[in-house]
Amino acid sequence: MHTLTTIETAHDMYLHLRATLRDVVPDVELRYKAELAAEINVLKRERNAIILGHNYMEPALFHSVADVGGDSLELSRQAATTDKDIIVFCGVRFMAETAKILNPTRTVLLPSAHGGCSLADGITAADVRALRARYPGVPVVTYINTSAEVKAESDIICTSGNAARIVNSLDSDTVIFLPDEYLAGNVAKETGKTLIGWTARCEVHDKFTVEDVANVRAQFPDTVILAHPECRPEVVDVVDFTGSTSAMIQYVERSTAPRYLLLTECSMGDNIAAANPGKEMLRLCSVRCPHMNEITLEETLAALQHLQYVIEVPEDVRLRAHQALSRMLAVT
Ligand code: 13P
Ligand code: SF4
Repeated sequence: MHTLTTIETAHDMYLHLRATLRDVVPDVELRYKAELAAEINVLKRERNAIILGHNYMEPALFHSVADVGGDSLELSRQAATTDKDIIVFCGVRFMAETAKILNPTRTVLLPSAHGGCSLADGITAADVRALRARYPGVPVVTYINTSAEVKAESDIICTSGNAARIVNSLDSDTVIFLPDEYLAGNVAKETGKTLIGWTARCEVHDKFTVEDVANVRAQFPDTVILAHPECRPEVVDVVDFTGSTSAMIQYVERSTAPRYLLLTECSMGDNIAAANPGKEMLRLCSVRCPHMNEITLEETLAALQHLQYVIEVPEDVRLRAHQALSRMLAVT
């Protein structure tokens, strides 16, 4: 979580961004973005809106207009409890849908017409029904990176921050765990339970290999390597720490090591570097999430100006998805 930013003048915003991001964003970009960010904060107040920003948001947006920054679990909790009229979700569609499911009387805006995710796009509600028919009585745990329709077919939801805890909370040694093949492998190892999985993968985390880790260790032996649990299990086996995006941020903040490599989306390395000036983040990052990167300051301003893109979830789907999400929030 980071400081609340309510700055409404371009000059003050520029000074704030320069103090925070001078080592990660060029000055000319900071000046331009400060103007947009100040305009957004004025409109945010006038419209009685809250902006939730996922940890993968680009540094200038993350540090200027997001009232709350965090991982999927933290942002779900914020979305569920906010009393603001409008929730602007700077993240991807499944996150904005989750906000609408949990807090249906608010207007939820996604500053992108698409905001997909290869995991959410990798499974349908019909797929879940077919698995239930094949394995009757086996509980279904579904990752939050899924559509509202898929959540509605599930018994309980999990995030990267609580997946093992959710699986352990169930009174069953066999669990259907959807849709991330690698997360299922990692959670199976951690819990010792039998997980019946699916074949979807995160197109970003799929790219990191054991060889990448070995190369960095050979070149920079004092580097602490962190990976998101959407990485392949064999990669998770050889790194120093695995956790949700926020767990990785907290790990770097608490650790005293001089150098880190993050096997996750590139913007997070920039955000962590900005928050930890004395620590070096190895800039070997070449993998960006194209869906998260659709969210820009320009699109966020347009979202507040034109009230776009409004997220709606059919009420019958919402009620069933709400049940699965509430069960998760009760466990954690
Ligand atoms: P977190 O819940 O860890 O923030 O992960 C969300 C995500 O989409 C990672 O790719
Ligand atoms: Fe989906 Fe991967 Fe992008 Fe996260 S990084 S939103 S899991 S495609």
